[in-house]
Amino acid sequence: MSVIENSKVTIVGAGSVGSSAAYAALIRGSARHVALYDIATEKAEAEVLDLSHGTQFTGSSDIIGGSDLSVVEGSHVVVITAGAKQNPGQTRIELAGVNARIMKSMMPQLLEAAPNAIYVIVTNPCDVLTVLAQEATGLPPERIFASGTVLDTSRLRWLLGKRAGVSTSSVHAYIVGEHGDTEFPLWSKASIGTVPILDWVPSDGSPKFTADELDQVAVDVRDAAYKVIQGKGATNYAIGLSSARIVEAILGDENAVLPVAPVLQDFHGISGVALSVPSIVNAAGATPIMETTFSANELGLLRRSADALRDVAASLRD
Ligand code: 2OP
Repeated sequence: MSVIENSKVTIVGAGSVGSSAAYAALIRGSARHVALYDIATEKAEAEVLDLSHGTQFTGSSDIIGGSDLSVVEGSHVVVITAGAKQNPGQTRIELAGVNARIMKSMMPQLLEAAPNAIYVIVTNPCDVLTVLAQEATGLPPERIFASGTVLDTSRLRWLLGKRAGVSTSSVHAYIVGEHGDTEFPLWSKASIGTVPILDWVPSDGSPKFTADELDQVAVDVRDAAYKVIQGKGATNYAIGLSSARIVEAILGDENAVLPVAPVLQDFHGISGVALSVPSIVNAAGATPIMETTFSANELGLLRRSADALRDVAASLRD
């Protein structure tokens, strides 16, 4: 892709997620300038040095970074990955307390360094932290949102494409709601090409999807991170790529439809909670597509997701 001239993204947090996001942004040419910021000087500088050593083989993006806040200055997009990560078996919600404290301490300094940036919250629980960060900064909801279920939607499309025998890019299906245990697929809108998912006939002669099979796919997507974390201690590559994709939609002013999570305002009657719904992502940030429709069951699940997250956010307010 052609790099947007003078575009800059700063990734906050040089852990496995942040360094993978920086790596993905470099390889994909998501921005002209990729910065990696972390308070841990040695770690940040080592990740930047390692990435720099490979820039002969990447496009025209460059990488800078370190522990000085000046690294963040001039960013058009700031992706926040800093914080504690899940241990095997731990839920994302269990990280809320410690990461809320980190977020609250970090946001004022970041906003001072990059007052006009779009903020993408990746740190978990990303939806809850987005509500707290939006309240703390007073940024308009479209300018600060969670990466949400962009990653989960990619997992869903990969699983469905593999089973259906089609390219992942031809699977049109979304995971919505919490980036977490209450997330769910929007089956009422899922299709492969123009064919509704339950009508698709796999090219290898295997049977069509059944409702039970789709239920299992939903569970496999919801639990995917637990499986990866159990095996390798963290997830990083797919969330890094998902973050780079979101950055591109912003910097490229793409008006791309992505399931990111801004704080909703009277979205099917839901307000004051950040949930992933199909949203238009462009240089102004993220705007939920209010015309998105849900089955009665899906709307019930969305409201369940909202109630679960609203309670967690309330428990974290001072
Ligand atoms: C993921 O879903 C842990 O939220 C991260 O991979």
